Amino acid sequence: MINAQLLQLVINASNDGIVIAEREGEDNILIYVNPAFEKLTGYSAEEILYQDCRFLQSGDRDQRALGSIRETLENGGSCREVLRNYRKDGTPFWNELSLSTVYNESDKQTYFVGVQKNVTAQVKAQLRVEQLEAELSTLKAQLRALNTTNGQNN
Ligand SMILES: Cc1cc2nc3c(=O)[nH]c(=O)nc-3n(C[C@H](O)[C@H](O)[C@H](O)COP(=O)(O)O)c2cc1C
Repeated sequence: MINAQLLQLVINASNDGIVIAEREGEDNILIYVNPAFEKLTGYSAEEILYQDCRFLQSGDRDQRALGSIRETLENGGSCREVLRNYRKDGTPFWNELSLSTVYNESDKQTYFVGVQKNVTAQVKAQLRVEQLEAELSTLKAQLRALNTTNGQNN
């Protein structure tokens, strides 16, 4: 088994957010957040420990990705979903959350580990590609219509 101190160093050095949560009633409350999570969200550990991570969604709760996250929290296993989240200062970012269930034999408790990656640049690029594809297909349709009209007139 890896030395606990080394494990702590590694998690602290991670470029991606790493958090651990435990179940409390309807919530899964944060019991650990690493420095990268604090940097990504703008919240310090003291401000958010013992809260459910849903505060990162602000009022933006109508997100399809939440379905499989709820399913994982209910039935165990793991999932990877991209969520719209908001920093402490209100700026939005796209957060790829990799969520896994951890059963701890020694205290017979279930925990969850979340790894958060800022994928804002990738999602924005993808949305731009989709927008350009839509514009292209509109232009193609207009061109076809124009060619047909020209063909009829000749
Ligand atoms: C370990 C863990 C990490 C999570 N990380 C995030 C996160 O970074 N951003 C987010 O919007 N939701 C995150 N969630 C999901 C929310 O905490 C919550 O479970 C989700 O919104 C679904 O529950 P709800 O419908 O009660 O809000 C995380 C959940 C767990 C258990």
